Amino acid sequence: MAFPQTRMRRLRRSDSMRALVRETTLEPGDLIHPIFICPGQGVRKPIGSMPGVFNLSVDEAVRDAEEAASLGIGGLLLFGLPESKDEQGSGAWDENGIVQQGLRALKQSAAAKNLVLIADVCLCEYTSHGHCGILDETSDGWTVKNDPTLDLLARTAASLALAGADIVAPSDMMDGRVAAIRTALDAAHSEDTPILSYASKFASAFYGPFREAADSAPQFGDRRSYQMDGGNLREAMREIDLDLEEGADMILMKPAMPYLDVIRAARQRVDVPIGAYQVSGEYSMLQAAFEKGWLDRDRATLESLLGIRRAGADFIVTYFAKDAARLLA
Ligand code: PBG
Repeated sequence: MAFPQTRMRRLRRSDSMRALVRETTLEPGDLIHPIFICPGQGVRKPIGSMPGVFNLSVDEAVRDAEEAASLGIGGLLLFGLPESKDEQGSGAWDENGIVQQGLRALKQSAAAKNLVLIADVCLCEYTSHGHCGILDETSDGWTVKNDPTLDLLARTAASLALAGADIVAPSDMMDGRVAAIRTALDAAHSEDTPILSYASKFASAFYGPFREAADSAPQFGDRRSYQMDGGNLREAMREIDLDLEEGADMILMKPAMPYLDVIRAARQRVDVPIGAYQVSGEYSMLQAAFEKGWLDRDRATLESLLGIRRAGADFIVTYFAKDAARLLA
């Protein structure tokens, strides 16, 4: 039946009517707040390209986490800026590494310990060259070697779980890393620690601001030989299938906004929980528009997140987590 019997506007007449028929919801518990932990005490260093985001020393990270917990946020995603870097990225699996220290401190905070603590597993913040794996340099160029990197990622994941990570999240895009990490976790008596794999992670310009925040820009070249090509949806499905076969418990899709179709396709294909990462560049471009007064801050923030949920994500990693949680309160 069409107009005039059917009038779509009937169900849009009031706030309460719209709330009653809303198909997709957004709650603070759906949001994951990223934290960049750095050495020192009382450090709160702003990231130029990401207004409102900081490098935080462990003590400040705990305060930030406590605030996130009080806002009802679901969890944290932890990144680290080590004291020093080397070719292998040994700071990543150091038992006194920066994220390991942060995890132990967070687990001691009565206010923060109920947040789900997700530790990013990658080497790029810890390697002197800024790539996500072991480098092989020859006279005719360089490559990131896959298989020797797996062992280092596996050690990193086990060390993070031991320090208190509730979930480990490999973001390196090496082949076979989920299986290697699962084996290492099980061997380290962390068989109950889930793996959230960044199954489909595209080589993206939208990671630019993150590399300032995490000091992880590659010193040469780019990540296109290990992260996915932006044109490929079917390949993303293969990545997901393989990660699940290797033992991933959940998958993370990234970036979000330029790849909403990939999130939707993943949702239709698999039944595991799906997270999406609204990455640094997505945040920075919205912040830039807010600063210019070109977009309504509160509405655009929530709309950007709702769109990701509607595409099919169960939870969202976002630098807007605290702002959005306040708006939703
Ligand atoms: C580490 C990693 C990156 C991001 C998350 N984990 C950077 C990269 O791959 O270069 C990007 C997150 C963001 O842009 O917010 N490999």
